[in-house]
Amino acid sequence: MFVITGGQVVSSSGATPADVLIEGEKIVALVSPGSDVSVRAQESAERVVDALGCYVLPGGVDSHVHLQLEMTPEATSSDTFATGTAAAAWGGTTTVVDFAGQLSGMHVRDAVETRHSEADGQCAIDYAFHLAMGQVDDESLREMSAVMDEGITSFKYFMAYPGAWYSDDGQLISAMYRAADLGAMVMMHAENGLAIDVLRARAVAAGKTDPVWHGRTRPARLEAEAVHRAAALASVAEAPLYIVHLSSAEALEQVSIARRSGQNIFAETCPQYLYLSIEEHLDQPGISGRRHICSPPLRPSDGQSSLWAGLRNDDLAVVATDHCPFCDNEKLLGEDFTGVPNGLGSIEHRMDLIHQGVVAGELSLARWVETCSTTPARMFGMYPRKGVLAPGSDADVVIYDPTVGHTLGAASHHMQIDNSAWEGVEVTGQVRSVLCRGSFVIDERTFVGRPGHGRFVQRDRSELLI
Ligand code: URP
Ligand code: ZN
Ligand code: ZN
Repeated sequence: MFVITGGQVVSSSGATPADVLIEGEKIVALVSPGSDVSVRAQESAERVVDALGCYVLPGGVDSHVHLQLEMTPEATSSDTFATGTAAAAWGGTTTVVDFAGQLSGMHVRDAVETRHSEADGQCAIDYAFHLAMGQVDDESLREMSAVMDEGITSFKYFMAYPGAWYSDDGQLISAMYRAADLGAMVMMHAENGLAIDVLRARAVAAGKTDPVWHGRTRPARLEAEAVHRAAALASVAEAPLYIVHLSSAEALEQVSIARRSGQNIFAETCPQYLYLSIEEHLDQPGISGRRHICSPPLRPSDGQSSLWAGLRNDDLAVVATDHCPFCDNEKLLGEDFTGVPNGLGSIEHRMDLIHQGVVAGELSLARWVETCSTTPARMFGMYPRKGVLAPGSDADVVIYDPTVGHTLGAASHHMQIDNSAWEGVEVTGQVRSVLCRGSFVIDERTFVGRPGHGRFVQRDRSELLI
């Protein structure tokens, strides 16, 4: 038995002083500090952990990451399952959801088996997969049922990246009908890829090749249009819809309209869209700008207050990272912005960065936990195993000191990247200790985890289906 005493247990409904009793991999009880039960438990405990002055949180659930993703033959995201999950733990995340990617020409089954073989035995924390479908055809749609039986219950489709991951509207609505039948969650990369390709070609032909043109050729209007179209298709197919990495106020407005009309549509945003901007980070020459190339792109900072408002009112339900890091040698690939691998690394910083929203008065403590842990667990069929501290739940616990200040950057982070999109950002609050299923992964700011502790989480259907 472990007992965590003296902390404020934070859940999606608020904070309360409580002692947490852990037996093996599970939470057995939350009890009043100083109560007879707590005192007796502490007397017989193998270890009593003092969390005085700290928050005690359910482990973070990062429901959108790309570890060792081969984006092109020359560029593979630089965190492996081992390094990325260790870095996630450093930042208070105890479960990640990555993707089995079915490239065009590949069988869904092979994609799933390949991803399992890459992750198996490597992860320091628990992990699960979505299926990213790059070839929507009869065989792939049939395969969705078997994949769901194996605990992969959400499927990502792409309105972007023609010639690679892109699906046309007919393929999308076919997939949505199938998902609705099966009770699967439809995830959408919503950007109008065909139009974007024209803008990119025109920019390059006109000699507009700097990193900022990555952003200027993927305008928010073409994200909003894609969200609107995806919502329309999903409403016809009566399928649930989850917009990944929503970046702009204009696209959020389309989510809000669809939700107000009663549609079962959800959206996720990422820390980069809440804090980083096209003018300050992407509009930089050379490597500085290249480091901030991701899709959708960074947006003008004047849209960020709308995203915070969306997080408060639930039009944005989840904060995930879309962690997809590349080292500088890969960020330097390509003669212009079109050749730079897309993505940046944040898996370690998500809880800290969203805690800044609490510090700044943008978000309540409860909403921090809800958007970073509870809702992703519910959205993707892991609740109440994950996302909550309650009797019977996995003992995924974070002890978080809200008073410690620190500065983010490549010299101090644990992610396997030689740069940081977050260089020099100062935050207040830091993870002190982390347990994943009752085992310490971070103990008083020392990594004590091991690759292979993390298990594959067979997920149920989303709790948020209607
Ligand atoms: O730039 C990004 N987001 N890279 C990862 C791939 C994706 O579309 O999520
Ligand atoms: Zn995407
Ligand atoms: Zn992604």
